[in-house]
Amino acid sequence: LNETEQGPRRVEVRSARGPYDVLVGRGLLGSAGQHITERLPDVRRWAVIADDHVAPLYGGRVRAALEERGCDASLFAFPAGEQHKTRGQWQRLTDALLAAELGRDAGVVAVGGGVTGDLAGFVAATYMRGIPVVQVATSIVAMVDSSVGGKTGVDTPAGKNLVGAFHPPGLVLIDPDVVATLPRTERAQGWAEAVKHGAILDRPYFDELAASAPELLAGDADATERAVRRSVELKARVVSDDEREGGLREVLNFGHTLGHALEAASDYTLPHGSAVSVGMVLEARLGERMGVTKSGTANHLAGALERFELPTTFSAATPSGELEGYLRRDKKVRAGRVRMVLLQCVGEVANDGHWSREVAIDSSLDVIDTYGADAGV
Ligand SMILES: NC(=O)c1ccc[n+]([C@@H]2O[C@H](COP(=O)([O-])OP(=O)(O)OC[C@H]3O[C@@H](n4cnc5c(N)ncnc54)[C@H](O)[C@@H]3O)[C@@H](O)[C@H]2O)c1
Ligand SMILES: [Zn+2]
Repeated sequence: LNETEQGPRRVEVRSARGPYDVLVGRGLLGSAGQHITERLPDVRRWAVIADDHVAPLYGGRVRAALEERGCDASLFAFPAGEQHKTRGQWQRLTDALLAAELGRDAGVVAVGGGVTGDLAGFVAATYMRGIPVVQVATSIVAMVDSSVGGKTGVDTPAGKNLVGAFHPPGLVLIDPDVVATLPRTERAQGWAEAVKHGAILDRPYFDELAASAPELLAGDADATERAVRRSVELKARVVSDDEREGGLREVLNFGHTLGHALEAASDYTLPHGSAVSVGMVLEARLGERMGVTKSGTANHLAGALERFELPTTFSAATPSGELEGYLRRDKKVRAGRVRMVLLQCVGEVANDGHWSREVAIDSSLDVIDTYGADAGV
């Protein structure tokens, strides 16, 4: 039996609004119309939303696939880039949907990376008090992370993702063939989150990722399909158990406490995946120093991340003095201590009754000083 005969892999995610499917398979974009109309037969009109890189590549194809099934579908594009994940673009898109006279029987198909998924998802969450959304993930970040879990929203001048809503999709479609057009550096950014999945939950997956890094970076569609399936299964399991992050979902924050601080201190010139890559290694060093994380774990992580051409140390460009301010402003800070997810070893999170524990900000800064500035990024 070959892959086509088997059809796409289906992973079910449970959410408060009911279960939804994530389909992963090469060539899936061609049958997008069929999958979408089968799952969401009550939607009469579709707004396909994509950024201006992805709209000409895949937005038109998804729109055509819906029209072939007899649906009314229109394409709405917005300028690509995180700087456009704003309330301004939300307003422009909702106005455009209103001008097109889309009603309560409409649905949104978000075709693109995490920016599109978050922005178009938030449009769907709020338009007419909420219409269905289908996520068609085209970046690795979207495939392994943002398309699953139901978080949508936009950035504000005060910070990223501060205005948004939980709006689980009705369906997620992932066609690994689209990685062909994704720039290599964008692929690497997404694989950082997949390495995180392996590091917190699945040692064999971690090893497999490290071994197939060259194929994954080069955009090999079969290797991408195998890895994306595993990441989707892992993320689906976590968010199905804990959609709103009171428990297990917290493990997904590994690498993100220091990662977010590094990202902010760099004025967002350090991309998120790179920041998380450095953050995971530093948090592992911290865990080792505290005697929580098995020694050698940080170097093991760094070795895998370097295979993805990701940074594992932070350059002297951001002095820890600046970082300190961002760490102290972390919403999880209490009395000079910040909550952090620490590994037991590669593949397992340390749990002492909670999935995260309090770490002194001073020792975090000390680790950054010791290990942070010894190589350029
Ligand atoms: N909702 C969540 O749970 C969640 C999780 C992780 C990240 N995010 C969000 O995701 C965003 C980052 O996502 P991203 O890295 O995908 O950014 P992105 O959506 O900006 O995509 C990165 C770039 O790749 C382009 N692109 C995407 N797919 C392509 C393809 N197949 N071929 C050619 N070009 C393609 C885009 O046009 C863009 O220029 C951030 O805003 C972050 O907050 C959300
Ligand atoms: Zn992340």
